[in-house]
Amino acid sequence: MKNFVRICKVADLPEKKGVRFEINDEDLAVFKVDNEIFVISNVCPHNRVALIYQGYLCNESVTCPIHGWKFDLRSGNTLSNQSNIRKYETKIIDGEIFANLPRKFLNW
Ligand code: FES
Repeated sequence: MKNFVRICKVADLPEKKGVRFEINDEDLAVFKVDNEIFVISNVCPHNRVALIYQGYLCNESVTCPIHGWKFDLRSGNTLSNQSNIRKYETKIIDGEIFANLPRKFLNW
């Protein structure tokens, strides 16, 4: 079952500059490239550093600013033969961005 959670308004995002959001314990890097929205994990699968939102954008890819691992924004796939990064399904409704985030369940 999908769990789409509101992130922000499309109009609030700068073009070609990452923005970090922490929602439901998920650390997200959100990018707007040519008016298209991409939501991926902000945590690099390399040393688990949470700086992907500050990565270098080139077309539809982002490069981690720490050691240079490169990821496709559309798929989350690695472009440098390393581990993939988590990509979140998104949808836009009335100018608002929603991402399909994992549900959190409490186990008491
Ligand atoms: S922490 Fe991202 S490439 Fe090393």
